[in-house]
Amino acid sequence: MVVKLGGSVITDKRRPFVVKRATLRRLARELAAAKQPLVVVHGGGSFGHPVASKYGIAEGYKNKNQLMGLSLTHRAMERLNVNVIEALQKAGLPAIAVQPSACVVVSGGQIQSMELAPIKKLLELGIVPVLYGDAVPDLSKGMSILSGDQIVAYLALKLEASRVILGVDVDGVCTANPKKAKHVEIVRRITPADEKLIASLGAAEGKDVTGGMGNKVRELLALAERGVEAEIVNATKPGILKRAVRGERELGTIVGR
Ligand SMILES: Nc1ncnc2c1ncn2[C@@H]1O[C@H](COP(=O)(O)OP(=O)(O)OP(=O)(O)O)[C@@H](O)[C@H]1O
Ligand SMILES: [Mg+2]
Repeated sequence: MVVKLGGSVITDKRRPFVVKRATLRRLARELAAAKQPLVVVHGGGSFGHPVASKYGIAEGYKNKNQLMGLSLTHRAMERLNVNVIEALQKAGLPAIAVQPSACVVVSGGQIQSMELAPIKKLLELGIVPVLYGDAVPDLSKGMSILSGDQIVAYLALKLEASRVILGVDVDGVCTANPKKAKHVEIVRRITPADEKLIASLGAAEGKDVTGGMGNKVRELLALAERGVEAEIVNATKPGILKRAVRGERELGTIVGR
């Protein structure tokens, strides 16, 4: 099972470098209810996104300032990652960080390959590998941002995940951004045929250098086309993630075929 803890859930995206500690502790406990081998991925929230945005990391290498920017963005993600790892440990989950920028080959912002042997071995041992959106060297652009969403889709495919869950701060994908529009409806299922809706999906509320809900859904649609279904659920509501990891479905938006 691959679960993403959205940066929108575990941080306050409107305030730089603020972890939502109580939420993170609760989500760690909810994840501990999982009965299958578990991979956790977390997003950047107010750690990665603002720093990456300041230095234009996602636009590729253009000037020397970005070298420090790459270093600082990665460091910001490590700081958030320590919080996630410690929360999982406190909930009884033996978690180990796996640094994406050191094991993923990225070109043009897209994963070309990933060293999976250590992750597979960790899973076999009963350890929870924890990855995160990261600032990475990019073979063609020099540098880029690898989103947690893309890592989720890649790992779900390669590890043949039986369940893929993405926790966010909204009830699912809606007909319009629920943080901005008043009258919105939750879309219970999205398939590649829903072209109009997909094209309309907007960015995030705060800073998000990886395209917010729109790109998340596009990553998951590519996964769905290869036969793996994912579900986007509201992880800010207590109990939802736990029910999802225990196998309950249709708690948010399913992205499938
Ligand atoms: N049609 C839509 N339905 C639902 N949410 C939407 C929609 N359009 C835009 N959004 C925004 O997408 C946000 C979720 O995406 P966002 O990238 O902020 O979260 P995340 O992926 O959990 O964070 P991170 O990238 O830090 O991990 C919501 O908070 C909402 O503001
Ligand atoms: Mg996002």
